[in-house]
Amino acid sequence: MKVLLIGSGGREHALAMSLVKSARLTKLFIAPGNPGTAALGENVVLNVTDHAAAINFCRLMGIELVVVGPEQPLVEGLVDALEAAGIPAFGPTKGAAQLEGSKAFTKELCRRYGIPTAEFGRFSEREAALKYVRTRGAPIVVKADGLASGKGVIIASTLAQAEEAIESMFSGAFGSAGAEVVIEELLEGEEVSFFALSDGSRALPFASAQDHKRVGDGDTGPNTGGMGAYSPAPVFTGDLQARVMREIVTPTIDAMAAEDMPFKGVLYAGLMICSDGPKLIEYNARFGDPETQVMLPRLESDLLSLIEQCARGNLERDAVALSDLTALTVVMAAEGYPGAPKKGTEIRGIEEAERMPHVIVTHAGTRRDGTRLVADGGRVLNVTALAPTLAEAQRRAYAAVDAIDWPEGFCRRDIGWRAITKT
Ligand code: AMP
Ligand code: GLY
Repeated sequence: MKVLLIGSGGREHALAMSLVKSARLTKLFIAPGNPGTAALGENVVLNVTDHAAAINFCRLMGIELVVVGPEQPLVEGLVDALEAAGIPAFGPTKGAAQLEGSKAFTKELCRRYGIPTAEFGRFSEREAALKYVRTRGAPIVVKADGLASGKGVIIASTLAQAEEAIESMFSGAFGSAGAEVVIEELLEGEEVSFFALSDGSRALPFASAQDHKRVGDGDTGPNTGGMGAYSPAPVFTGDLQARVMREIVTPTIDAMAAEDMPFKGVLYAGLMICSDGPKLIEYNARFGDPETQVMLPRLESDLLSLIEQCARGNLERDAVALSDLTALTVVMAAEGYPGAPKKGTEIRGIEEAERMPHVIVTHAGTRRDGTRLVADGGRVLNVTALAPTLAEAQRRAYAAVDAIDWPEGFCRRDIGWRAITKT
């Protein structure tokens, strides 16, 4: 089978690594890919915002399945266009991707179908929003409705902060993403990411993970796209998973089907494990980055076959098999990240790290410059290790990080600390 994978991050390198393990794969194209994916398939330049160009490429190359990594092309309706042209694709249609693309859509769906989530109000008028927070008081959470690269969420611990957040969103601080604002109750508990696969009518549990969003050790400093992760999340027991499937994931898949927007692909639930049970914080309509880098090394089933079953609408009941091993990923970032990262610095020693047992290195923001590998983005490398315990996975991952010679790069030294301290 000829497959086109869309994206260029560590997530897509990890997806490519799993896809090439399938005996059924005959050729993998990655658009645009990165130096890591170039070793596994053919990187191609393709403007996927131009749906006609994407369809032409697929026809020309005989692509039989398209796998979409990032959210933007999903929200822009790439899957709708491919499917209308008869090309199977993994990922939700534009309508179903609203689960990620619009917080208000998801909150309304939860309200209509009784899916547990934080209490909320939605506002397109500044005055009404201000009145709501003044009635509710702080702490309270203020969110821009649309996609804002994870930056459109403000946890206000005082009323003044909440008012300021509302003012800045209605003044266009997040562009059109902030034209509507969702205000919700602050949930307290432990946060877990849970991933489920769906073919539009059936949902299967995939895996759990926890990530570290802050740039600094001890979970301090500004938010990032994710500085590291581990899977499984120790807090996410089998009972909890069954409850989340029963109360949150399955009702969502059923609701989307009932609303005539069946959700196909991977549903990524951001959950808060509260004292009165699990609650939905938000959905994403795609695999996580760096969560994919810790989940896929644990997958024992054939990823291509799973993805194909989702795309074709015939997901088998016991299709997902995961190993009991724990995986932990450390993200190596370029100096300056999450602000403007320093580019063009040379990275050496990846081969040494990869030779260490149970270690996988994936590329994100890297570039080839002749024979040199250089940094070309904020999050640059992901170093993943597998082990029987989280503490051992952490030890192996940092040993591999230390084999990489990149003076201008940095990473957190404490990925996994909360979970390791508890056990
Ligand atoms: P979101 O983009 O909705 O996932 O929000 C980003 C982060 O803000 C989440 O990962 C949570 O850590 C936090 N957050 C969002 N909503 C809430 C809430 N209602 N209560 C507590 N924390 C929240
Ligand atoms: N790691 C967070 C995300 O993929 O959205």
